[in-house]
Amino acid sequence: MTHAEAASRAAFLSAELHRHNRLYYVEAKPVISDKEFDEMLRELQDIEAKFPDLVTPDSPTQRVGGAPLEGFTQIRHTVPMMSLDNTYSEEELAAFFARLQKGLGREKIDCVIEPKVDGVAMTIRYENGILKHGATRGDGQTGDDVTNNLKTIQRLPLRLPGDGPQTFEVRGEVFMPKAGFAKLNQEREEAGEALFANPRNSTAGTLKLLDPKIVAKRPLDIVFYGLADAGGLDLQSQTDVHALLDRAGLRKADLIWRADSAEGLLAAIRELDEKRRSLPYETDGAVIKVNSFADQRELGVTSKAPRWAIAYKYQPEQAETKILAIDIQVGRTGALTPVSRLEPVLVSGSTVSNATLHNYEEIERKDIRVGDVVIIEKAGEIIPAVVSVKKEHRTGDEAVVAAPTHCPVCGTAVHRDEEMVVIRCPNPHCPEVVKRRIEHFVSRGAMDISGLGESVVAQLVELKLVQDVADLYALNELLLARLERVGAKSIDNYLKAIESSKQQDPWRLVFGLGILHVGAGGARKLLEHFGGIDAIAAASAEELMQCPDIGEVVAVSIHAWFREAHNIALLDRLRSAGLNFTQRTVTAASDKLNGTTWVITGTLSQDRETIADTIRANGGKVSGSVSGKTTYLLAGEEAGSKLDKAAKLGVKILSEAEFRGML
Ligand code: IVH
Repeated sequence: MTHAEAASRAAFLSAELHRHNRLYYVEAKPVISDKEFDEMLRELQDIEAKFPDLVTPDSPTQRVGGAPLEGFTQIRHTVPMMSLDNTYSEEELAAFFARLQKGLGREKIDCVIEPKVDGVAMTIRYENGILKHGATRGDGQTGDDVTNNLKTIQRLPLRLPGDGPQTFEVRGEVFMPKAGFAKLNQEREEAGEALFANPRNSTAGTLKLLDPKIVAKRPLDIVFYGLADAGGLDLQSQTDVHALLDRAGLRKADLIWRADSAEGLLAAIRELDEKRRSLPYETDGAVIKVNSFADQRELGVTSKAPRWAIAYKYQPEQAETKILAIDIQVGRTGALTPVSRLEPVLVSGSTVSNATLHNYEEIERKDIRVGDVVIIEKAGEIIPAVVSVKKEHRTGDEAVVAAPTHCPVCGTAVHRDEEMVVIRCPNPHCPEVVKRRIEHFVSRGAMDISGLGESVVAQLVELKLVQDVADLYALNELLLARLERVGAKSIDNYLKAIESSKQQDPWRLVFGLGILHVGAGGARKLLEHFGGIDAIAAASAEELMQCPDIGEVVAVSIHAWFREAHNIALLDRLRSAGLNFTQRTVTAASDKLNGTTWVITGTLSQDRETIADTIRANGGKVSGSVSGKTTYLLAGEEAGSKLDKAAKLGVKILSEAEFRGML
């Protein structure tokens, strides 16, 4: 390909990708598949790799293109970013409308009502149709240049459609959708990381990250609500701004009302309150704006906020209750988290009897004591939290809880992290930490050893039958008979489930090990990239970072985990127990074994995994233990108990020669 050919192909691909992005995100009418989109993107990436001078800042490849920054540069806002006056009462809203009437000297005033999106304010400049930069509010005069992070927002056009306005500066709110926030927190919980309190915090935290590659993995989104610089366009009202946003393919709020009387405003904010829970973003109120720019100019601004707009904030749902106890929860990373047990109370339609106290610093800061009457809050999807203490209700009997100096379970002196926020039990043998680790290992998302619920795990650990995950594979009938209230049938089921877990995909094992920062998604990526656990264990931190989705922090954590002596020993025991350490890529050879389930035993001409692969490649399933569901037992030399069992159950027993004959 000559340079000229590459340039013209790149321009074509770029334009196509921008168009399809718009069809997908703005018009919700995609005309090509994700796969076709990815193929075009890949082709453009390849061309740009060969001809780096063809990379433009608005290229669709540049959404995660930037290298990590040292820090953010500052951008001075062309028009200051003001805040709004707030009100929580309908009377004050009516008073606001009366002020508008007085200021403008007439009765009817055309107003626009929009949802107040609870995210982070952003100003975004387009010049000649290209996204130039975006910045946070900062102090209102200057903010952080977060352009690289914003470019990761798929919905945000890097280039505007050619037939609309090309140069202007718009204002909007970056947010994390409720669903994406819930998923992110779930992944963080799985990976043993601290949870975000709410979508706004996670948005603000994400925008502050200096590495756009990490930002790209967080589901940020944006809606627009205003204009800072019309760039010479003739706009007369907020309604014109909405029309401009539509023409530019920039998303505006999903619900918008018009009203010209106090009653109309009240009706709109009440309707929004009913509908806002179904919006994809958190909202904490309504913004009421005078529509006409001429009217806005006449009303003017104060030093802080415009006189032509107001934010009506909804009361987050709160309730009063009493703290019965503050317990300590021990996590699988050893983190000691205080949890308040509450007198049950109804908030946002559900009964709440626990509320998170994120850490001991928070207890101290809010001066929360056992026996206190407190206000709790539950906004939207968010975990209930203690907002404040009603100190006037104190009787003097309330008990102060100090941060633990020792683990409440094993008594080991606690360890505090650098910021002194997370308190951890550093004892890897702490029975509570061990229980959490085993629970995680056997959970459905990890090794999926069904039946081993919390109470069985607790007994196994308390009886010292299991002290780490490898001990599970040393369990037998005799040992399990020591469990209370567990019959022979259950014991048999547990042993079967443990046995068949040996065949689980190795990513489940990696996830189940509970390596800090490695969630289920990360574990899958690691196995796809490295093919086996040994290759992951041998990789340097740099090599780990070559794996998609593995950043520096995660790589360092994985690298350290595989170098700790007790982890090395643990892996050796898991390997000896027969767990599956390598990812097999099975390419279908035939469907001759469709619908059959196989158990392999004894010594055969090839190792068991290779034979299992052959079975799978021909459509069969492989299981670790003989049961009523087994179709065939493939028995080699020196086959033992499985052969007896198969004979007893009437399972058909095949020699290796018979097996080969079937294929
Ligand atoms: S208009 C002069 N409209 O709320 C400020 N703001 O407290 C004009 N916000 O900083 C702001 N949704 O971050 C406006 N539909 C909306 C909004 C909205 C959320 C945020 C914005 C602003 C803050 C004001």
